[in-house]
Amino acid sequence: MLHTSVLDPNHSDIARAATLLSAGELVAFPTETVYGLGADACNDMAVAKIFDAKSRPRFNPLIAHVADLEKAQEIARFDEIALRLARAFWPGPLTMVLPLLPEAKISPLVTAGLETVAIRSPAHPIAQDLLRAFGGPLAAPSANPSGRISPTRAAHVVEGLGGKIAGIIDGGTCDIGVESTILDCANAPTLLRPGGVPVEAIEQHLGYEVSTRSDAAPLTAPGQLRSHYAPQAAVRLEATEVRSGEILMGFGPEAKGAALNLSPTGDLIEAAANLFHFLRELDNGEGSIAVSPIPETGLGCAINDRLRRAAAPRD
Ligand code: TXA
Ligand code: MG
Repeated sequence: MLHTSVLDPNHSDIARAATLLSAGELVAFPTETVYGLGADACNDMAVAKIFDAKSRPRFNPLIAHVADLEKAQEIARFDEIALRLARAFWPGPLTMVLPLLPEAKISPLVTAGLETVAIRSPAHPIAQDLLRAFGGPLAAPSANPSGRISPTRAAHVVEGLGGKIAGIIDGGTCDIGVESTILDCANAPTLLRPGGVPVEAIEQHLGYEVSTRSDAAPLTAPGQLRSHYAPQAAVRLEATEVRSGEILMGFGPEAKGAALNLSPTGDLIEAAANLFHFLRELDNGEGSIAVSPIPETGLGCAINDRLRRAAAPRD
């Protein structure tokens, strides 16, 4: 159990929150939509802790929060349409999915290995203060355990995540109470999730209708994100020995002869932090990838979900 500090939105507590975030800890903070569970978006271990604290069963991509458009342009490529929307609706409850800049230092756990990134600049003054004090992008899903209702008060966050996160900034009640609108702007503008900015307001601004993702299936369902990174190499799971033509992505102290070990000590948070990096590194055309058994507990569930999809037959 961690001690969860309840912080006030004053200058010194915001500085304390920024220090915790820089140390790779999780801090929940208010936005105008719902409370977000913040982590340094460039720190793999910190982002892995988000999935652990929320008990998320899979690595769906997260939103990177930034103070302003200038910071956002360090991470994603903005075309004319994206610039216009940012100028009209930021700071505010609009999230845009945009091409990730190759030089951006965002953890692949934030993008789930995709080449796009979801990004927004929240309007809430406490979120703004925190982002400016911290200086970099914060990954922040809603600050609730997976499958539970999004929190709009600090007490909701304490109830769901108390003892699992380092801090929470108490900023009272969130005004909007529903999550941000998500618009895919990497292609022709497409509504991915209705939310705080009415789609009509976006359409009025653009002067044309935006399409809506036609199937109602949640974006995060397996296979929904079609461009999800899949290795070229074949992947074999539950490998207890290395066969010829294989390289081993190990886990735990038993994994002898591993080319890379997700966590030599068997720490699932460390393994999650390494997963996307190692998949890419071992996918080098030198053989198929064998993967040690990974326990189906805690973050192991999300890791196995990802690996099963990497191992699934594909066309
Ligand atoms: O209002 C909000 O947006 C709140 C507050 C805290 O800012 N945050 C939030 O985050 O709702 P989260 O993680 O619960 O929602 C992220 C959504 C997911 O449905 C995910 O699938 C989608 O954004 N998403 C993230 N990156 C994406 C990408 N590259 N492509 C498509 N969808 C993406
Ligand atoms: Mg959520």
